[in-house]
Amino acid sequence: MRGKFITLEGVDGAGKSTHLDWIAGRLQAAGKKTVVTREPGGTPLGEELRKLLLAQPMHLETETLLMFAARREHLERVILPALAAGSWVLSDRFTDATFAYQGGGRGLDLGRIESLENWVHQGLQPDLTLVFDLSVEEAERRRTVAATAPDRFEQENLEFFARVRSVYLARAARYPQRIRLIDAGRSVIDIRKSLEEILAILCL
Ligand code: TMP
Repeated sequence: MRGKFITLEGVDGAGKSTHLDWIAGRLQAAGKKTVVTREPGGTPLGEELRKLLLAQPMHLETETLLMFAARREHLERVILPALAAGSWVLSDRFTDATFAYQGGGRGLDLGRIESLENWVHQGLQPDLTLVFDLSVEEAERRRTVAATAPDRFEQENLEFFARVRSVYLARAARYPQRIRLIDAGRSVIDIRKSLEEILAILCL
């Protein structure tokens, strides 16, 4: 039986990575073979592209094409084979991030991103997308506390992240069957309760 594809999204600092391993553990406890991966990245080439994307200034269209180039490899080498083998795939970001960051944050025409999505996805969409939603001020505060050297995206200002967030919210409203909003301003315990309920519908 084909596995399910779950993606985690949100503005930088919303805390999705904190919950990734916990979700993987819940899936494994429910008897699912689970593959944890990320974008940009997830393959040797994708990880090389990630280094460039996070550090190197580039044209917006170059940035978008490289995100999809990394995604093409990721789908071919990791996501599609794992799903076909019955594993569940948990990806830290996927194409909603391109709509939110390159579309919302940087202002690329969303229709262009849709064209690339149609080309690269070949009909695949996540079965479930969890968008960790947080005010951009609180997300910035959390990034500051984390105190790692900010990458090219994390260096962006609050207006940028407000645009990113608004695209995530718009997509959650547009695709309510697939995208679930998680209020990430709550305690970890409360967030996990919500996650537990959502995952239970899917599999637990
Ligand atoms: P991460 O910090 O969640 O690992 O993601 C790396 C950065 O890449 C994050 O700031 C969001 C950005 N990104 C995009 O701008 N577009 C994309 O399509 C993806 C997958 C990530």
